[in-house]
Amino acid sequence: MNRKTFYITTPIYYPSGKLHIGHSYTTVAADAMARYKRLQGYDVMFLTGTDEHGQKIQRVAAENGVTPKQYVDRIVSGIKDLWRMMKISCDKFIRTTDDEHVACVQKIFKVLYDKGDIYKSEYEGWYCTPCESFWTETQLVNGMCPDCGRPVERTREESYFFRLSKYQDRLIKHIEENPDFIQPVSRRNEMLNNFLRPGLEDLCVSRTSFDWGIPVTFDEKHVVYVWIDALSNYISALGYLSDNDEAFRRYWPADVHLVGKEIVRFHTIIWPAMLMALDLPLPKQVFGHGWLVLEGGKMSKSKGNVVDPVILIEKYGLDAIRYFLLREVPFGADGVFSNEALISRINSDLANDLGNLVSRTVAMIKKYFDGLLPGQGEEGEFDSELKKELLGLKHRTEELLDNLQFSLALTEIWKAISRTNKYIDETVPWVLAKDESKKDRLAGVLYNLAESIRIVSILLQPFMPETPVKIWDQLSIGTDETGWETAGQWGVYKPKPVRQGEIIFPRIDMEKELESLSSAAPNPGKDGSAEKDEKKQKSQDAEGPASGDIRQISIEDFAKLDLRVAKVIAAERVEKSDKLLKLKLQVGAEERQVVSGIAEYYSPEEITGKTLILVANLKPARIRGIESQGMILAAADEAGGRLTLVTVDGDMPSGAKVS
Ligand code: MSP
Repeated sequence: MNRKTFYITTPIYYPSGKLHIGHSYTTVAADAMARYKRLQGYDVMFLTGTDEHGQKIQRVAAENGVTPKQYVDRIVSGIKDLWRMMKISCDKFIRTTDDEHVACVQKIFKVLYDKGDIYKSEYEGWYCTPCESFWTETQLVNGMCPDCGRPVERTREESYFFRLSKYQDRLIKHIEENPDFIQPVSRRNEMLNNFLRPGLEDLCVSRTSFDWGIPVTFDEKHVVYVWIDALSNYISALGYLSDNDEAFRRYWPADVHLVGKEIVRFHTIIWPAMLMALDLPLPKQVFGHGWLVLEGGKMSKSKGNVVDPVILIEKYGLDAIRYFLLREVPFGADGVFSNEALISRINSDLANDLGNLVSRTVAMIKKYFDGLLPGQGEEGEFDSELKKELLGLKHRTEELLDNLQFSLALTEIWKAISRTNKYIDETVPWVLAKDESKKDRLAGVLYNLAESIRIVSILLQPFMPETPVKIWDQLSIGTDETGWETAGQWGVYKPKPVRQGEIIFPRIDMEKELESLSSAAPNPGKDGSAEKDEKKQKSQDAEGPASGDIRQISIEDFAKLDLRVAKVIAAERVEKSDKLLKLKLQVGAEERQVVSGIAEYYSPEEITGKTLILVANLKPARIRGIESQGMILAAADEAGGRLTLVTVDGDMPSGAKVS
């Protein structure tokens, strides 16, 4: 086997709770890259996994009343399920609790100790007893624990240290001489100027204050510092220092470690210094991508504003989500996730541009040729321009993907899709169809459309594992017509009977969807509670009312609703929405803002001054980015298409309780 190899890794994830869409971002990107390289014929090793040791995991497990191992086993199986669902094509999933990994880390620690690069000393710093955490002087906030704000004590702990300082000059030299080592460039400058040039201190690499970690073999009260443990996964997974290190010899050094920007420091300073100390070559590249944030801040489990990838995939399909992640944000920069942006990408790029192109082409082949094109047909005006655009696409996509520019690569592919759609407008096949003498030209036009779609579908494979197959099925494109290389060739498609299948990407009603998303969005709490909420929700849905039944609730259930009389003091239309009004309500002494889908029935002028009923204790939701603090009641006659607001008889003061 002399195939060229390609080794790509993601960070290994902390199983301290459910993964959110931000975590999926790195893994989907790595997966796209791995698929791309496989399609090009590389022998690929794609590694991902979980980082399971450390005090944080030990504490969370204790809070859940289970052992750390029981705790991580449960969460890790959920993470694996998610990757399966997202069709992550990893070649290996490593857990830092795997025996092979543990043995490897222990050997690495010993080798470095024997060499004198790890030595025993004392760690001096500040200790927060309730948190069991050490802090340096600079980490304290007003002299107190930065986590809990309580007083800290000056402490010393016996620890092992890694001679990081020894490697400072070699590291600077390596980074300066290898401009591709840290990408994007901004992260490279940050590492050099903020960390390396000011000087490195030796690193404390063992702990004695907790025991959920890999024990130091020659001093068992110490466990190895989590980052030394975690970073080693990139070589332990390949069998480094084991009896079978064939994979290590084959794949190391890695071609690229994909990491989030906040952990670039560990990957470009500690990790290469460890490798230098082990006399191993350094990875060719560490790419620090940006964060996917929500409007209003970083996704965070503790803030409860995470977005659940499972829900999104169930709603919109895997390929739509993968497309959004890779298209929306230039890889390297931070990007904002919003339901609105997601739906508009689905509607415009997937349903409109790609989906319509495929369904129109198949429909025309059916209509004008009874489903089977006679051949390549006659050439004509506009063909050469289309061919030129499509034939250059493979090369342009590859160049961008080789630099991990997923978003730009997709932009190029979509330019070609738009070009193909424009070709339909230029050649107007339905006009050709009216003239029997133009039949062969019509066949030529439809063949060119099918051939363009074939090329696009091949190049979409790294990003979308499901859609290309659906397209091939509809156009009856055979496996011998979908090789990666054939994306650079014209005339490969051999017409066979087409099949009009399901719509690949159905259009979504943006307004309805946003409303249902904001009211259905679970509010994930800590450590998997979103999962529980979701399960609860599902089991409720499954239980549901038996058909014909009216679901009954108890008086206690009804009493949970806080219904109040509210007066509309101002109203305005929500921008770019035909259905939504933003209302300002007076509820006793309080003012509330509510977004309501009544704009088709009431104008702002009509509704202002009305006295309504507000569900006052509904969890606030964001509709079109606007906070809605409750819901007003209305009666809807769906068959008649009418809706009227529930108002209050007589003169009741706002804030009065409704029961
Ligand atoms: N366990 C360490 C990595 C050790 S690698 C030897 C870790 N784990 S993590 O679970 O906290 O994060 C894993 C990765 O997910 C990181 O690269 C992090 O940047 C990424 N992301 C977490 N939230 C993210 C977003 N909201 N957006 C994009 N990436 C995000 O760090």
